[in-house]
Amino acid sequence: MEITLVQGDITEQPVDAIVNAANSSLMGGGGVDGAIHRRGGPEILEECRKLRASAYREGLPTGQAVATTAGRLAARWVIHTVGPVYSKSEDRSALLASCYRESLRVADELEARSVAFPAISTGVYGWPMDDGARIAIETVRHADTSVEDVRFVLFDSAAHAVFEARLSG
Ligand code: APR
Repeated sequence: MEITLVQGDITEQPVDAIVNAANSSLMGGGGVDGAIHRRGGPEILEECRKLRASAYREGLPTGQAVATTAGRLAARWVIHTVGPVYSKSEDRSALLASCYRESLRVADELEARSVAFPAISTGVYGWPMDDGARIAIETVRHADTSVEDVRFVLFDSAAHAVFEARLSG
């Protein structure tokens, strides 16, 4: 598996699967979620609605992942995962690690060979970037997966620098 860092917009990544930092409703939001639905178009939300009407009536639980079409995006699939909201009092690291592990498991089911991840939970959900990078890289490095090309797509240079330090650490 090759792990690379990209600074830019995840919706522009030419990979098989783009991972969305979603919320349990799967009905969209801001940040990565907003960008994916905006650029990917209504087909993605349509499939999310079907998932909510069938397998995920209560919503997608934190730490789990599910795939839909990528609509108009260059990718073939979007893998939606729900990160934990950061908490000072409760260690939710295992849930964040699960987002990366479960997304790779879904990618394997799809036989996706290349996957782009955002820095899950480090935006609206408030996870400190350095710890988010540590968990992301450690989990992906140790995952048992057939995915060959994993890209962490960071939105700004500060996040990219933090991931770079963790990747070379
Ligand atoms: N491409 C790549 N990275 C992005 C993009 C983008 N287009 N937009 C934002 N980011 C970065 C943010 O800077 C942050 O580092 O992705 C990381 C995750 O931020 P969020 O998208 O806010 O995701 P998260 O912190 O997991 O919060 C999820 O936010 O958008 C809502 O519906 C979503 O309720 C959910 C919550």
